[in-house]
Amino acid sequence: MTSSPEIPDTMRAVVLTGHGGLDKLQFHNDWPTPVPGPGEVLIRVHACGLNNTDINTRTAWYSKGVSDETTGGAFDTADDGDATWGGASISFPRIQGADVAGTVVGVGQEADAGLVGKLVLIDTWLRDWSDPLNLNKCSYFGSEHDGGYADYTKVDRRNVHPVDCDLSDAELSTFATSYITAENMLRRADVGAGDVVLVPGASGGVGSALIQLANRRGARTVAMASDAKHDQVKSIGPEAVLQRAPEDLKAALRDAIDDTVVDVVADVVGGPYWPQLIDVLARGGRYTCAGAIAGPMVDMDLRTFYLRDLTFTGATVVPPDLFKDLVGYIERREIRPILAAAYPLEELRAAQTAFISKQHIGNIVVTMDAAS
Ligand SMILES: NC(=O)c1ccc[n+]([C@@H]2O[C@H](COP(=O)([O-])OP(=O)(O)OC[C@H]3O[C@@H](n4cnc5c(N)ncnc54)[C@H](OP(=O)(O)O)[C@@H]3O)[C@@H](O)[C@H]2O)c1
Repeated sequence: MTSSPEIPDTMRAVVLTGHGGLDKLQFHNDWPTPVPGPGEVLIRVHACGLNNTDINTRTAWYSKGVSDETTGGAFDTADDGDATWGGASISFPRIQGADVAGTVVGVGQEADAGLVGKLVLIDTWLRDWSDPLNLNKCSYFGSEHDGGYADYTKVDRRNVHPVDCDLSDAELSTFATSYITAENMLRRADVGAGDVVLVPGASGGVGSALIQLANRRGARTVAMASDAKHDQVKSIGPEAVLQRAPEDLKAALRDAIDDTVVDVVADVVGGPYWPQLIDVLARGGRYTCAGAIAGPMVDMDLRTFYLRDLTFTGATVVPPDLFKDLVGYIERREIRPILAAAYPLEELRAAQTAFISKQHIGNIVVTMDAAS
């Protein structure tokens, strides 16, 4: 390995020891520092953003045995055999954390030594690089492989993207998962200039990214958020902000944008309110979904779907070209980070408690160095 000197044999890490509550996250001072393989790079992590995937995996919410909304606590009905986003089991111990901002400090023999010293973001989708477009051959950083809640992490050289900008490490670590997910949703729904896009959960990580990235495409955006968050959500730039779940969504839209229908619903919320979201789609409208934080089971009237010529797209695994685009948007300041709070790595449990309470706007991160 080519490396900068003084890489210790052990490091600080927060390790997930099994499915369950926050007590399954254990802080260690002496966890083995990863050693990169021939095609991998070693990264000194500066900051790592929090993520619902960490919580859904810890609590086994992805299991088909669970039909409730995300709560942050363990589920008695979950089955360990299908407890991850990909419908498989996970092995423990596991270091979670997908959204890393860090510096490359070492490279394997097949990786470019010129990467050493570069500030990078990590593309969170790990691919089979002999077949990179095959969705069945993708896994997730910090889920099927160890991630960034540690001083060091390692990843394939093709997953690191140098970034040149004056944002802090904490701010940089808010982008990866939320913004590539949001951009992928907008791509899948073919959002373009003039489309009216309705965004439930607009105060959250993906929702606030959807507003910015849809605006970037010239779309008109309508946010939905809890009342207490409206002033901050307005500052993200939607044309209008509606309540989290207006009693009469058509009337709320008429008051806000002088129309009762939208072209696209870009949703990560789902749950009991879902039929109303579908019912405001215009004929030929598009529904794109990457999450179900308010509950995965919804009532669907198939007549609305086919009589209105709707298109539904799911969005999870992101194609390889998209992360490079995202870094360009960051460097050209076409999008901005929304950093709600930064906690030290040792306080990951407290950070997750705040994240789960959903009082924040944007994202919460942990930092490894006081200066981040
Ligand atoms: N498929 C993927 O690759 C992918 C990637 C990222 C995220 N996701 C999923 O997308 C969902 C949202 O992710 P995120 O990171 O944007 O979440 P987040 O930052 O936690 O924000 C979600 C927002 O949804 C709103 N909300 C509405 N009903 C809710 C309810 N019943 N419980 C909790 N929140 C509710 C809340 O805002 P208000 O209080 O303002 O209503 C909350 O802030 C999660 O389920 C996550 O797992 C999927």
